[in-house]
Amino acid sequence: MTTTSVKAQTLAVHGGTPVRATLLPYGRQSVDEADIQSVVDVLRSDWLTTGPRVAEFEEMFAARVGAKHAVSFSSGTAALHGAAFAAELKPGDEAVTSPMTFAATANCVLYQGATPVFADVSGDTLNLDPDQFERRITPNTRAVLAVDYAGHPADMDAIRNIAAKRNLVVVEDACHALGASYRGQAVGSVADMTVFSFHPVKHITTGEGGMVTTDNSRFAETLRRFRNHGISSEARQRQSQGQWHYEMVLLGFNYRIPDILCALGMQQLKRLDSNLNRRRQIAARYTAAFKGIQAVTTPIERPEVISAWHLYPIRVRSEGLSVGRSEFFRAMRAENIGVNVHYTPVHLHPYYRDRFGYKGGEYPAAEEVYDRLISLPMFHGMTDEDVEDVINAVTKVAEHYSVQ
Ligand SMILES: Cc1ncc(COP(=O)(O)O)c(C=O)c1O
Repeated sequence: MTTTSVKAQTLAVHGGTPVRATLLPYGRQSVDEADIQSVVDVLRSDWLTTGPRVAEFEEMFAARVGAKHAVSFSSGTAALHGAAFAAELKPGDEAVTSPMTFAATANCVLYQGATPVFADVSGDTLNLDPDQFERRITPNTRAVLAVDYAGHPADMDAIRNIAAKRNLVVVEDACHALGASYRGQAVGSVADMTVFSFHPVKHITTGEGGMVTTDNSRFAETLRRFRNHGISSEARQRQSQGQWHYEMVLLGFNYRIPDILCALGMQQLKRLDSNLNRRRQIAARYTAAFKGIQAVTTPIERPEVISAWHLYPIRVRSEGLSVGRSEFFRAMRAENIGVNVHYTPVHLHPYYRDRFGYKGGEYPAAEEVYDRLISLPMFHGMTDEDVEDVINAVTKVAEHYSVQ
């Protein structure tokens, strides 16, 4: 399909034929026969949970990101909670984070009774702006949670330098960024603690699951206890030592990920590089295809990073279009392209407005861009035809509404 022919077509939202017959989701897992077999094998074994697969997955993961320790959790959110606990956040403390994220990044601070303080984002990456971060530091600040938005690593050198001056714990929310690198260093070995998610739309999946990586043995020990009720040694260790005695030394949770899912995670991790390559290919194809479309701005990759391309968020330029983001979004959905929006800035959610009195206007960079964001489908299982369908739909909708 050429650009001229798509322009001449009636939009599906106006009764025309959609670009594709079935909805293409914005993200989706890839599960193969080896994945399924690995799960079946565990189901036939003695250990469904707290067994050998957990430590194996953790070791494999730590090696992959170049960290000394990896501590698994039942979700990325539980892993964030663990990191907030290990950072010793408590009532009266503050932690600075970006509003352009999933609510869980800020919620984990609230779980600890501490206060999330937002700092605005840089316009190009939509990651925490280091200057804004520095401005939000108060005597109560204990930690910073930098988010690798869409898979693009945050400005970690600047963030770490500012944090070091104040002795703040640096947590990197890399739920979007498994496989990314920052100045040649794998994400997962840069911050004091780095948090990952294995939700199905991510680079590898365990259904639900998460991980914290760290080089700090004290953090690692606290994280292991926290995810297991605050108990000081694991059930399997005790059984192998023939002991019954255990001690609960802190108030933890059951945030364990079972062996069934760790087996899946290990199998998936073997395909991480090919998943990343495919995502990079798709991003490059999108960026090349949208170069000539005035109404659309594509995401960038700073020279010092390699993005993991979890998302491909375009910005629609309202100046070049007769409609806003909502109409553009609706038209894309009608073409059967499962677009999404990442994110409603966290401070604008009703819970945060009600609890902290946010009214909008506090974080202009995040809010301005939020009104224009649309995430296009991006997952490693996309076929070349899927990618071309997305390009055709964006071209069709953008050209139709273009005012030039
Ligand atoms: C930036 C970010 N942080 C945290 C999470 C929470 O991860 P999970 O869904 O595994 O709990 C997500 C989930 O999508 C996320 O995108």
